[in-house]
Amino acid sequence: KIIPVVMAGGKGTRLWPLSRASAPKQFIQFVGEQTLFQSTLSRVSDKALYEAPVVITNEDFRFLVAEQARELGVKLSGILLEPAARNTAPAVAAAAAFAADKFGEDAVLQVLASDHEITAGEDYFEAIRIARETALSGKLVTFGIKPTEPATGYGYIEIGEKLATGACEVKRFVEKPALPDAQKMVAAGGFAWNSGIFMFMAAQVLHEMSRFAPEVEKAARAAVATAASDLDFIRLDAEAFSASPDISVDYAIMERTANAAVVPSSFLWSDLGSWDAVWKLGARDDAGNVASGNATLVNTRNSLVMSRTSHLAVQGLEGVAVIASEDAVYVGRLEDSQQVGTLVKQLAAMK
Ligand code: GDD
Ligand code: MG
Repeated sequence: KIIPVVMAGGKGTRLWPLSRASAPKQFIQFVGEQTLFQSTLSRVSDKALYEAPVVITNEDFRFLVAEQARELGVKLSGILLEPAARNTAPAVAAAAAFAADKFGEDAVLQVLASDHEITAGEDYFEAIRIARETALSGKLVTFGIKPTEPATGYGYIEIGEKLATGACEVKRFVEKPALPDAQKMVAAGGFAWNSGIFMFMAAQVLHEMSRFAPEVEKAARAAVATAASDLDFIRLDAEAFSASPDISVDYAIMERTANAAVVPSSFLWSDLGSWDAVWKLGARDDAGNVASGNATLVNTRNSLVMSRTSHLAVQGLEGVAVIASEDAVYVGRLEDSQQVGTLVKQLAAMK
């Protein structure tokens, strides 16, 4: 069976003010009944295919994770707690070391982002089946999404020769390219976006880590070896874990390894990383608006209006996001959505 590893320690600052330091994006309900973290757990709930998931998150989010899993009736294999945020490479290494102990070195891990919107139909599970086969042959497997624009927030995968399992070799992996490079790759064709879902054997990813990011691997292994368990929570050793460099799994190994494979996929996928992505994915009315909560729109077009509290009335605007949470309001152009993270940094600096 596959061991799901759900990464739920990110901050999601571009979706301020709904995504907050105390309850980031993955723990929030955007579309549908469940939070993004809960729908991630739901996608790995097939007991014939999956073991109980391992969740790795920041110490600060332990109650959100436990409570939201409990609400779904999902039992977890463990909740690994990071004493400090060091990005996804040490998170993946720690989860792999934990899973290797618990399920064996050859256990196949499916590492998932917890904050994506995905439609898991037949094509999705066919991709999972191919990925599992490919991971068992010793590859680090990614899922490739067909790019629709030269987005700079994603990893780009150059698709190579077809392998026997149905996956393809990865010729090159470029994490978060500059705009001109992204434009070139999209125009050239033959590239896919990295979906942020990975599949590999626990021992394999630790081996690659020890080659390309030995300090990350050492710190993560030590933090797991000396972790303190308390019910479902596994507290990684603070001193050991904090010694890890702060780096994402994409930069640490995916860009460097020659052992990666990609499953070109066609399932519906959205990173839901910014307000324009929420607007694109939402149910748009005839005027191109997406509205939720207590909102009235007059003579307004192609806009996203969301209120969690007070009545929001918007008149005569086009292409804007108006987002009201319990204690803050954001108003901006949808085309500036990528810059909300910068704005939040300024807000933090003002405190
Ligand atoms: N446990 C833990 N600890 N989880 C983390 C941490 C951390 O320090 N940092 C981020 N995460 C979680 C996030 O909550 C999210 O679910 C996932 O890991 C990915 O992190 P992001 O910060 O959202 O990454 P990204 O979107 O910039 O880039 C990645 O995803 C893209 C697709 O959405 C890369 O893998 C790209 O190559 C990829 O295209
Ligand atoms: Mg992301």
